[in-house]
Amino acid sequence: MAAVEQTVTTDDLVLPFTDEVKARTAPLFDKVKNQIDELDWVYFAPLIDEINRLKKEKNAVILAHNYQTPEIYHCVADVVGDSLKLARDAVEAEADTIVLCGVHFMAETAKILNPAKRVLIPDPKAGCSLAESITADDVLALKAQYPGVPVVTYVNTTAEVKAVSDICCTSGNAVEVIESLGTDRVIMLPDKYLAANIAKQTGVEVITWEKGRCEVHEQFTPEQVQDFRDQNPGVVVIAHPECTPEVVDVADFSGSTAQMANYVRDHHPDKVFMVTECSMSDNVAAENPEVDFVKPCTVCPHMKRITLAKILTTLRDGVHEVDVDPALAEKARGAVDRMLAVK
Ligand code: 13P
Ligand code: SF4
Repeated sequence: MAAVEQTVTTDDLVLPFTDEVKARTAPLFDKVKNQIDELDWVYFAPLIDEINRLKKEKNAVILAHNYQTPEIYHCVADVVGDSLKLARDAVEAEADTIVLCGVHFMAETAKILNPAKRVLIPDPKAGCSLAESITADDVLALKAQYPGVPVVTYVNTTAEVKAVSDICCTSGNAVEVIESLGTDRVIMLPDKYLAANIAKQTGVEVITWEKGRCEVHEQFTPEQVQDFRDQNPGVVVIAHPECTPEVVDVADFSGSTAQMANYVRDHHPDKVFMVTECSMSDNVAAENPEVDFVKPCTVCPHMKRITLAKILTTLRDGVHEVDVDPALAEKARGAVDRMLAVK
């Protein structure tokens, strides 16, 4: 690819796609060349180059969720993973600043676990339909309705909700968290589908929150899965547990985003349908070029608020800092720490 005379403007910054930028970013392009075309790379490469320079200058680390686009996931992130890994690695981070490329509850969790660090999110409006479905008052009302029943709260919630919960969980450790409590009943919030899917894997009765659904995963249907099986004989179907139980029932495997990625790495299916957010397949496909991905995916509009240009502005100007009131953070940290002690 010849260097193209082109500039990229983010606010007041003009970044040319020079021969030096092209040479420095060539190894990164090699990782994503099947996902990103050369014309888009002309736009992405100067931003990636500048972000990677700024990270060193500012002593910052970039944590990115598996649903971030390939140019973020493969080209500027230091740590990638599911919610559980991002929470764990936030604790390990040695840098002064954490830039969380994901949705707001992920950045808030990083801040709860690292009160002394500066946590930035490139777009503070990156929300989540699950986090928005429940308030701390809703949790208190449920506790009053079911006295003594422990509250297991998905990390996809606000700090206020975590602060009134007994323990957190992610889709990667929900079974272990519930079983660690040793009770025959738990309240599991807020994702009613995740709760129903996890209930089937434990002998524990699970009380759910009716309003909690992921707007991305609730769109998949078992009929759609069957259609893709008919059109792609032998396809392996792996579904995120935020999908309805009817979808999970017709899948070959279900697990957190990291467990889904590991499944593909470990089993090398000829053809796979990842029933989840679109960038997941792109990111896993970049690392598994021999696997054929069937992609009837759905975009998470919140995850897609994060872009290279916003990451650059956030890093450069130190804007969009995530703050949690220290007293609230301490209460919320109790529920997150109890989860991290289980798995
Ligand atoms: P994971 O913890 O599996 O990465 O899921 C987070 C999420 O928001 C999925 O929609
Ligand atoms: Fe929230 Fe669903 Fe988007 Fe995940 S995919 S961040 S659960 S809205």
